[in-house]
Amino acid sequence: MAATIIDGKKVAADIKVELKKEVEELKSKGVNPALSVVLVGENPASKKYVANKEKTCEALGIKSVAYKLPESATREELLKLVDDLNADPGIHGILVQLPLPGHMNEKEVMHRIAPEKDVDGFGPDALGRLLLDEPGFVPCTPHGAMKMLEAYGVDPAGKKAVIVGRSVIVGKPLALLLLRKNATVTICHSKTPDLKGECLSADILCVAVGRAQMVKGDWVKEGAAVIDIGINVNESGKLIGDVEFEKAKERAGWITPVPGGAGPMTIAMLMYNTVEAAKAGLKA
Ligand code: GUN
Repeated sequence: MAATIIDGKKVAADIKVELKKEVEELKSKGVNPALSVVLVGENPASKKYVANKEKTCEALGIKSVAYKLPESATREELLKLVDDLNADPGIHGILVQLPLPGHMNEKEVMHRIAPEKDVDGFGPDALGRLLLDEPGFVPCTPHGAMKMLEAYGVDPAGKKAVIVGRSVIVGKPLALLLLRKNATVTICHSKTPDLKGECLSADILCVAVGRAQMVKGDWVKEGAAVIDIGINVNESGKLIGDVEFEKAKERAGWITPVPGGAGPMTIAMLMYNTVEAAKAGLKA
């Protein structure tokens, strides 16, 4: 049977409707939610992501404050900007778009963002809280993946979840979120001996490796939920995922498309974190 296609665009749109109301409420209380997005250099994919983030902020009534630094900007200049944004009471969220140019240290920058403004959830405070099951900012892409499963009634409890990819931004935090929902979790990576066998054992298969169609359709267990977190551009300029979608959808129970799955959800969850950051300002 063909899979139910998980409509990430629709799930994201529903989340954004609720967030827009929350933004209006915050504004009525004198808080103007504001997200600062910092882009260094001219990476075309980064420019596109940043433009999308700005557009979504605008649609929700969130103030977007963009800083575009040249590729030649120094490490000190970027750190100074982060320090200034940390100290600015009018800014609730700070996002420094990755990847950064080679002469900059991404970890150093992620450590520098104030924990209460770390809406990407990439800093040590956010990631530590996630590990400790304490409230904090959850990284947007894995959070979005969980929201898609929830929206389609896929409960991870008691299921076998397999994640392909062990990045700090997606794979590792997603493992913790699935574990929190009582899945039995396996993380696979480039040294995993029988990747196909691992994938075939998954009730929930999440793929975040950044390699076009690496996971084949016949690696998917019948009826599994497949979350494709890859965004790759093929020879004809088309966006494609990490999973062989056309074949996988014949076996899966649920599957996310690329585009229209994980991508829109990531931005929606960034907006969610920004609203949370602004709400915390209200309590302070
Ligand atoms: N580069 C690719 N995705 C992301 C993201 O979610 N946040 C940041 N800061 N950089 C990225």
